[in-house]
Amino acid sequence: MESSQQLQCFLDIASEAALAGGAVLQAYWGKLTEVKEKGRPGDLLTAADKASEEQVLSVIQRHFPDHAILAEESGHLGEQTAEFLWAIDPLDGTTNYAHQYPFFAVSVGLLIQGKPAVGVVFDPFHKDLFRAATGLGATCNRQPIQVSQTSDLSRSLLVTGFAYDRSETSDNNYAEFCHLTHITQGVRRGGAAAIDLAYVACGRLDGFWERGLSPWDMAAGVVLVEEAGGKVTAYDDGPFDIYTGRILATNGQVHPALSRELLTVKPLPGFAPDGS
Ligand code: IPD
Ligand code: CA
Ligand code: CA
Repeated sequence: MESSQQLQCFLDIASEAALAGGAVLQAYWGKLTEVKEKGRPGDLLTAADKASEEQVLSVIQRHFPDHAILAEESGHLGEQTAEFLWAIDPLDGTTNYAHQYPFFAVSVGLLIQGKPAVGVVFDPFHKDLFRAATGLGATCNRQPIQVSQTSDLSRSLLVTGFAYDRSETSDNNYAEFCHLTHITQGVRRGGAAAIDLAYVACGRLDGFWERGLSPWDMAAGVVLVEEAGGKVTAYDDGPFDIYTGRILATNGQVHPALSRELLTVKPLPGFAPDGS
């Protein structure tokens, strides 16, 4: 168990790293000359992703040369079962960014013994700096934040997303999206999972679910939601595992109902890879 002083130190360095990445994203904003596809159609890579990651990594590695890293563009650096593992997304919301849709962030999370324990999400466009560490609470721009008090799923505003493999699988989240849109006040698709989680943490949204995510999308946001009084689990309300790609994160109150709906929804016909 880390002391709160040590956690505070990790949090400050995570913030320094996220701010450094954010400055790069601001510098490249609206000036991209080339947008590549990484593999799957729609999975984009820009010079901003790479330059932001360089800055984030340089801060983390300068302060913690012995810590392991899992970063979206650089992959695994160091032993992934290490006590300290930084999970970094230098630009969450690349598609938004490439289209100059201003909803993107830098996400810097620290897993301690495999558990997300420190999280910083920085949205440079709106200048929102979300920070949290286990036992230290969650803040936005230094002001304490809390999850919403919505208790009825029918009055909730939710958010979700669709992974890049969505046209290759019938597990594409379309049925869940339609069903929840039908029975709530709305389901947003922000396009940046780290901000989706930060917005659940600060009460702008009541719940978030998604499949096909990577640890760097979720590590920081999970800490934000938990420290803001929310709940993070698997879809079935069982323990959250950051390596499954699936997450259900809510204000806690709509959690059982949302979990139930996700488990009972029937697939939507017509969108399986074979058209069935
Ligand atoms: C993506 C975003 C998006 C989510 C995708 C992620 P990227 O991350 O978080 O909201 O739906 O599954 O891959 O590629 O913009 O870093
Ligand atoms: Ca991401
Ligand atoms: Ca990314």
